[in-house]
Amino acid sequence: MKRPKDYLIFPLDVATYEEALRYVELLKEHVGLFKVGLELFVSAGPKILRAIRERSEAGTFLDLKFHDIPATVKNAFLAASAHGVTYTTVHCDEGRGLLRSVVENSPSGTKILAVTVLTSLESKDLKELGYKDRYVNNITELVMLKARIAKEAGCSGVVCSGLEVEEVKAELGRDFLVVTPGIRPAWSLVGKDDQKRIITPQQAIKSGADYIVVGRPIRTAEKPIEAAKRVLDEIEMAISE
Ligand code: C5P
Repeated sequence: MKRPKDYLIFPLDVATYEEALRYVELLKEHVGLFKVGLELFVSAGPKILRAIRERSEAGTFLDLKFHDIPATVKNAFLAASAHGVTYTTVHCDEGRGLLRSVVENSPSGTKILAVTVLTSLESKDLKELGYKDRYVNNITELVMLKARIAKEAGCSGVVCSGLEVEEVKAELGRDFLVVTPGIRPAWSLVGKDDQKRIITPQQAIKSGADYIVVGRPIRTAEKPIEAAKRVLDEIEMAISE
């Protein structure tokens, strides 16, 4: 039975090993997975993954959003996998061939999540990127296109905004994992930032998200532990409805 904290991913979006571990100690009782992204991995290196595991029972999510030629991504994935991480991410943009070559070469253990469309993009950005009026009309269509490719290639799931969760689950099945960033609780003090396709924790879980990524609403709160507990309360409400 999944507990509320098993739904919560906390991104360690900080610059140093020491600061990351401060958050691990602070939040380890309230978080299901700690996410290590580009900034921290580039500055602290793989030892941060081991340090998280030594200090907490939470899983590790190495979110480097790989995007390169298949041979490079495949080898980077194997290296990530050797660190024993629970999840890692690969961009969908190079299509089925790249995803499949990574999936086929994946040793058991680390699961691959495909990044569909970043939650910092909105439909009007598509035109600038050359999409609109060509293949897709809006972000949801683009997310679905990429999610289908990810599923066909054998990925464990996708990362997409809360606004697309229901459609992904309805079409691709309950077992196809959905991780949702861009979470902004109604009480969050985070002002206008780079996240655009946002949704509350409760809405995301009710829509069927398997995990929510909540960073700044917890990290920048006056009392991060209290903020994490409020998120867990919302998750609990959503799963008990
Ligand atoms: O809650 P907050 O906006 O601070 O969360 C930021 C985190 O969400 C970053 O670690 C970023 O990498 C992650 N993210 C993601 N996929 C997106 C958007 C953000 O994994 N589409």
